[in-house]
Amino acid sequence: MNVRYRNLNVLVPCFVGLAIMCGLVAYSPELYRAFCGATGYGGTTQRAYADPTTTSQRTVTIDFDSNVAPGLPWRFEPEQRSVTVHLGEQKLVFFSAENLSDKATVGHATFNVTPPTSGIYFNKIQCFCFNEERLDPHQKVDMPVVFYVDPAFAKDSDMDHVDAITLSYTFGRSASPTDAKNLSRFLANAAPDAVHGLELFNQRCSACHGLDQNMTGPMLGGVVGHPAGSAAGFNYSPALRSAHLTWSTDKLDEWLAGPQKLVPGARMPVRVLDALSRHDIIAYLREVGEKHSDQAHPQAHASGPEY
Ligand code: HEC
Repeated sequence: MNVRYRNLNVLVPCFVGLAIMCGLVAYSPELYRAFCGATGYGGTTQRAYADPTTTSQRTVTIDFDSNVAPGLPWRFEPEQRSVTVHLGEQKLVFFSAENLSDKATVGHATFNVTPPTSGIYFNKIQCFCFNEERLDPHQKVDMPVVFYVDPAFAKDSDMDHVDAITLSYTFGRSASPTDAKNLSRFLANAAPDAVHGLELFNQRCSACHGLDQNMTGPMLGGVVGHPAGSAAGFNYSPALRSAHLTWSTDKLDEWLAGPQKLVPGARMPVRVLDALSRHDIIAYLREVGEKHSDQAHPQAHASGPEY
């Protein structure tokens, strides 16, 4: 066989393989994310719902990088070049996005980290990259990302010499714009969204809190407007029991931002760094609180609380 054909025998399967991979990545972001997200393969990152339980002395620097694919008329930039975090420490950072065109457009962010093997330790609690996102004409928003690096990073010998990780996002035009969320939810004057609050509550609070029963944490059904430490039958920390606080919207906001800062000695091991998420969760708690007080009226009770 002549040399040219022999080369083709090798090259053609390579190109076919490459084309299939590119096809999968380009046309099936869900598949790409499902696969890469599950394995940490290729420098994608993990999605976390809970806080890490430990922090470590070791630090790592996260550098941020952003790109916009051709065809999406957006400006998209990190608002900080880099941050240094302790392993296990939650961090809130912002990216800004602006639609430079006269039309609403939907974008979709893909992301990866370098070195790629560090991806399995990189956990995002909140990120715009979980959704298709719409920006109205000339709208500009600041988008929060909350993340932490898993303390298990310190135990992986492959990470011994890694002291910096680059987190890189690319926004491209969305392939399925009809499912998009609206980025206007990140505008400073956006109204709190109780439906999103319920989603966040299920992800981040319901492991410890129910509405009508005490679990690891006290029941929260009627918490808004009530004194702290007053759920019947719950064994509170002495600090919270004697805190003399009433759970107004503002106090709940401070509590969720840092329970031990508001009540030194309190036992809740969770913080919600992003203010908009806090406002949505509190809006949800207010809403279920109103339903709970309606329970005095049997008709309103018939439908029961929504979980
Ligand atoms: C890992 C378990 C855990 C998670 C997750 C958790 N909490 Fe808690 N929470 C607690 C514990 C424990 C307490 C009681 C603290 C104490 O006694 O010092 C508490 C107390 C509270 C209180 C005070 C209630 C009262 O009766 O005074 C509020 C409000 C609250 N949590 C809201 C939330 C919200 C909202 C979330 C989700 C963002 C959340 N918690 C997530 C464990 C948790």
